[in-house]
Amino acid sequence: MPHLRPFVSAVVRPIPITTREERIAELDRAGHNPFNIRGDKVSIDLLSDSGTGAVSTDQQAWAQRADERYAGADSWFRFRDAVRDLVPHEHVLPVHQGRAAERVLFGELLEPGSISLSNMHFDTTRANVERIGAEARDLPSPQLFDLTSDAPFKGDIDVDAARAVLNGPDGHRVGQIVVTITNNGGGGQPVSMANLAEISAVAREHRVPLVLDAARFAENAWLVTQRDPEYADWSPREVARRVFEFGDAVVASLKKDGLSHEGAFIAVHDPELADRCEVDIIATEGFRTYGGLTGHTLEHLAQGLREVLDPHYLADREHEAKFLADRLHAVGVETLRPTGLHAVYVNATPLVPHLEPKHLPDHAVTCALYREGGIRAAGGGLFLGTFDENNELLTAPPFELVRLALPRRVYDRSHMEYIAEVLAEIAKHPERVPGYRLTHNPEVLRHFRCRTEPI
Ligand code: F0G
Repeated sequence: MPHLRPFVSAVVRPIPITTREERIAELDRAGHNPFNIRGDKVSIDLLSDSGTGAVSTDQQAWAQRADERYAGADSWFRFRDAVRDLVPHEHVLPVHQGRAAERVLFGELLEPGSISLSNMHFDTTRANVERIGAEARDLPSPQLFDLTSDAPFKGDIDVDAARAVLNGPDGHRVGQIVVTITNNGGGGQPVSMANLAEISAVAREHRVPLVLDAARFAENAWLVTQRDPEYADWSPREVARRVFEFGDAVVASLKKDGLSHEGAFIAVHDPELADRCEVDIIATEGFRTYGGLTGHTLEHLAQGLREVLDPHYLADREHEAKFLADRLHAVGVETLRPTGLHAVYVNATPLVPHLEPKHLPDHAVTCALYREGGIRAAGGGLFLGTFDENNELLTAPPFELVRLALPRRVYDRSHMEYIAEVLAEIAKHPERVPGYRLTHNPEVLRHFRCRTEPI
């Protein structure tokens, strides 16, 4: 069967078409940081898949019926029921986005000097650990570092490494284990069911809570059904439910697989922990039946959580990413393998071989994408590398990847073809891509706030 996209556009938005001169001026103004570029100067926006998707006509229809009462609104119950259809946890607490869920939950699980172990902390997750005075330790699967292997579950946590920390002198300081599904910092690679079972047994043995960072739970579930023969007959919803059973607690940004523009939840079993989180949420987010979200959003979410596990939707999502990756391979651009769902990660190292790590190759390719095609993306190197007080690179990032994040239900094949054409042009004349250096290097959340310049 040829692939058939299971939806059409119902409303459209024109995108800005800019000149190369305008983009060069905008890059200068933005300190060559994609986060500083104005949206109306961006044609194809691949900066994030978070809160950037298109809602469905059914989501809009439900939102028309939103109940905006302050407490106990109908929209809250519809949202809560949609979440409870997935998670077994008794206590579901809404918050405005994932990082608020992290801040509230980690504030209860960690203290200064604690250690948080993870397959990879997403950048805000790390920031929320470090702001407590705790340490965020990434223990990705060693398979992740082989960018060209097609190992199916490179997102796994290294269970042996976790065991070694827990049994070692620092063991008593471990306050939580966070498994990020899919592993966003690690190329959107999925986490296997076997790995979840193993790490949850280790966590239980050491009485350390296992927290699922489930921002892309539906995409992880889909990849489990596709890559693990044991789950080939399971529906994505069945896999997702099984995954949530592993977590003592869940934090889930719903700006991704909630198919919404905002929203997140915390889910826990422990009533005392729920109680403590609730106090924080009422003080900082909103009452426990809205958590800073409008009834409108709660309705988008309740319906979004139903749509996101549709196998036709998820198959299309996989197809879209694979289509782009295949086009890139056809023009000689290497990407992280195997291709996940929420993004295609371009490997900058072979694309601009004249640039050494200190010249920030992934950032250089990111800026070239914008300059040459009005495409906004983000490199991971500025986040993963470390720099000295003169802004010189101290330790290079483990890989130089440019993330082309794919907003859900937004771009079609013609946009994907355009992206591939722009990258093909860059690949034809790599020597035209200048290296970069940092000119302003904030201590925390560098990649969001830094400024750079070409050399
Ligand atoms: N966890 C993961 C794995 C994420 O990817 C994100 C956000 C968050 C937590 C935080 O959630 O944005 O709702 O506060 N990722 C976005 C991205 C920003 O572009 O990858 P949030």
